[in-house]
Amino acid sequence: MIKEQFFPTTIYGKDIKLDNELFEKEIIEWSKKDPGITKTNREGWHSTTEMHKMPVFKPLVDELFKMQFEIYEEECLDREPILGNMWANVNPPGSYNLSHVHANSLFSGVYYVKVPKNSGSLICNEPRPGVQLNMPIRKKGELPKHLWREVHLEPVKGRILMFPYYLWHSVDLNKSNDTRISVSFNFIQKGF
Ligand SMILES: [Fe+2]
Repeated sequence: MIKEQFFPTTIYGKDIKLDNELFEKEIIEWSKKDPGITKTNREGWHSTTEMHKMPVFKPLVDELFKMQFEIYEEECLDREPILGNMWANVNPPGSYNLSHVHANSLFSGVYYVKVPKNSGSLICNEPRPGVQLNMPIRKKGELPKHLWREVHLEPVKGRILMFPYYLWHSVDLNKSNDTRISVSFNFIQKGF
């Protein structure tokens, strides 16, 4: 039979080398003097969203742009990306983030600064709404990736993930006894 696959959902990843210890120190100090805001974070600290304008994080912003330009090539996108906002997340033991999408963005993502083992995987859900209306009974055994309804991505220190804005995702409970630190962001398209 002829088999073609259309409408894939791509989650891009890239491992980079930056001074995460410096980022950790800056973010923790920031979280101690700023109450932050409440969005999807439960028990965790979510900074305000102008982090990309802070000089100390410029090396990260540069890497994010580099990767976003690579995605523009991959996805035949014209014009150029604009970093709309960026914020830090400090998730102590017992915290998590509710399921959400990043409305009004084009590509969203996360960068991992500090991720102890079992501090919460990124849970991404099947984004096609119609698919959720049926749960077919499948044969026993491991399913190929294109049939998954949910994927749990283990965070890796120094890794950037970027995904389309419409991908529903949440952050699992931090079951470790240490703090998990990440940076989230949204890219929009210039002139959009
Ligand atoms: Fe998110």
